[in-house]
Formats: sequence, C-alpha cells, structure tokens
Amino acid sequence: MSTAFASRVEAIKPSATLAVSQRAAELSAQGVDVISFGVGEPDFETPAHVQKVAKEAIDRGTSHYTRVRGIEPLLAAIRDESRRRRGGIAHETSEIIVSVGAKHALFNLAMVLYEPGDEVIIPAPCWVSYPDQVRLFGATPKILRTEESDGFRLRPDALAAAITDRTKALVLCSPSNPTGAAYTKEQLRALADVAKDKGDFWIIADEIYGELVYDGFDQRSMLEVAPELKDRLIIVDGVSKTYSMTGWRIGWTLAPAKVVKAMDKIQGQSTTNPTAVAQHAAMAALLGDKAPIEAMRDAFAARRRVFVAGLDSIEGFSCRAPEGAFYAFPNVQALIGRKANGIELTDDLAISRWLLEEARCAVVPGSAFQAPGYLRLSYATSMEKLEEGLKRIREAVARLE
Ligand SMILES: Cc1ncc(COP(=O)(O)O)c(C=O)c1O
Repeated sequence: MSTAFASRVEAIKPSATLAVSQRAAELSAQGVDVISFGVGEPDFETPAHVQKVAKEAIDRGTSHYTRVRGIEPLLAAIRDESRRRRGGIAHETSEIIVSVGAKHALFNLAMVLYEPGDEVIIPAPCWVSYPDQVRLFGATPKILRTEESDGFRLRPDALAAAITDRTKALVLCSPSNPTGAAYTKEQLRALADVAKDKGDFWIIADEIYGELVYDGFDQRSMLEVAPELKDRLIIVDGVSKTYSMTGWRIGWTLAPAKVVKAMDKIQGQSTTNPTAVAQHAAMAALLGDKAPIEAMRDAFAARRRVFVAGLDSIEGFSCRAPEGAFYAFPNVQALIGRKANGIELTDDLAISRWLLEEARCAVVPGSAFQAPGYLRLSYATSMEKLEEGLKRIREAVARLE
C-alpha cells in the first residue's frame, strides 16, 4: 500500500518560463510596475474574423464531441496550408492529428515514441519542455550545446557524433525558442544528409514559429528540403504563435499515418478531441484573411530592430540578430562577477533576479533553456514598453559596481 506519487513527478521541473511570469504577476499584483519580457505569446488579439467565426460556431450549437483527431474540414485546411508553406509537398488528412496546442502534440508524441533506454537528441539552447517531456517517459535527453558563433545552429558533425544505436529522435526547432535562430536551406540539408546516412530515427521538426521570420529570411521546412525523409519526419505546428491564438489551444502533427494512429489512440484516452469551437476558430484562421497576420509580423519586425540593437548597445550585453520568432537572446557573460548593492551577480539566474528587482523587468534566465550566461527577452510587447525596458536595464547596469 502507498500514497506516494509516481517517480516521474520528481523527474521533471515546473516550467521555468511560467515561474518567471508568475513572479512578475505577483509583483504586479502588489502594485509594482513590472515590464514583462518573459512571456512566449504575441500581445495581439486573435484576429476579429476568427473570433466572429467562433461566436457563430457557438450559436450554431458546436458543443459536442468531435472525432478525436479533429474535424475533417480543419484537417483539410491544415493540409492545404501546409502544402502552400512546404514547397507543394502534401500530407493526406490521415497523416494529420489536431491536439490541444503544439505542446500537447509534442507530449503525445513523447508518449508514443520514448521509453527507457532511448536517447533523444536536443540541440541547446532549447525550449524548456523538450527535455522534460523526454524524461517523463524514462528516456534520456541528449542535449547538444550549440555555439553562438555558429548562430546557435546544430553542426552536422556534432549531430553525426551524437547518434548512437539508442537514438530515437532528433528534435529541431526552427526558428527557435529561445534564440530566434533559424536554419537556412543548406544547413537543414546538411543535417538531413547526416540523418540519412546514419540510419533510422525520427526527426521531429517543431515549426511553430515558421511564419515569423524577418529581413527576408528564406524560411524552409525540413519537409521541403528533404522530402525523401518524409517517412521519418514528424512536423509539429499550430495556430498559437502565427495567429496570436495561444489560449485557443490548437496545435497539430503532420506525420506518417502510423504515428498519427498511435497518437490518436493516446489522445483518445486522455483529452479526446481539442475543443470543438476552437477547431472552428483555427479553421477560420487558416482559411481567412491573412492581413492581420502580416500586420503582426511587421510590428514584430520593427520591434526586433529597435530592441535587438538597443540591448546590444547596453554595456555587458551582446545580442545577435535572430532570424525569427519573437525573442532576443543576449549574451550577458560580461556581467557575471559584477556587483549590485554589494551582492555579486554570480550567474544568469542572479542577473534575472537583479533585473526584476532593480530594473523591474522580467526576463528568463538562459539556464532554463540549457544556456547559462544568456537571457531570453520576448519582444512580443508594445514599442513603448520595449523602449522603457531598455532604459530601465541601461540605468540598472549603470548602477552596478
Ligand atoms: C518551440 C515551441 N514549441 C511548441 C510550443 C507550444 O505551443 P502551444 O501553445 O501551441 O502549445 C511553444 C510555446 O511556447 C514553443 O515555443
């Protein structure tokens, strides 16, 4: 007999990014004027036409279970949109499953694929949930640190050296959370060549930020670059970031039918279908007017220019220009060892705490993404807040001893 929790609860940590936004929210609730650069979501409203379709769906009585992996017209809209974005290469609707956000899609995938003894290659800096989702199922995340000098991109020789008989999957996120770095066509091709030569394992391409690239960056999907790997390629995507629909919780997986079938089985025993109304909203986003999306992307592009240059000009900060997403990822190693009010800034965690207390700016320490010595700042906030935040950080740095 036992009332103990399963050991898997201890195997993982609470999401560090959520912890920062919670602390910032606590301070705000106490009346402290905190600028949050912590959140990973667009600050725009979901486009009005999407909201309208969702309201109409409610009025029509869209209030019942749907098929577990999503309604057919949504699957068809995802198929068509994916074909447009991925070099004309299409998936069948039997190769698509809609889940409760891209995170849920990745979680289902982890449940389907990973077990003790498996290794999952994850280039770092990486999104917080990848390693923990691997650990939850008893497998081992094999974190491969990438270098800022390589643009935070995994080198083909590093990938080749990391592959073993136990390799189950490689998780690639482009553009990346947290660095905003994106792989060029040639860089993806070089990784695909290694994956091809080295035998069988899954390639999981998280392309959730695929529509958010700037300065004319030529964004390509792994599917388009290496179509011959389609039977080993699993693409995760969704409406959260592109359409500013984080709260609607709709994400999806494009994968070989056998993977979709296995995920469907798991999802059928947990959430069943994603919320019916949200499925209609996602369909409206995919099929409807893209002007609001373009306006959002233009706003991100303008903010990125100001914010990245601003951070880079602050003493102790060095900030690479990211190709995509909405994050700046400055190197703050030069601040380590400096003192604030007599207390040494020993690492990026200490720097984040200091920025929250002294500059009233919430940022996420790079350690949360397996990248000590860096910070992640989301620029999905207004230009006024970005400028005010830069000013506060600059002033706090000037007060350092
Ligand atoms: C790289 C990456 N993948 C997946 C997700 C999850 O997206 P969703 O909100 O659709 O679950 C996020 C959200 O932060 C992300 O940054």
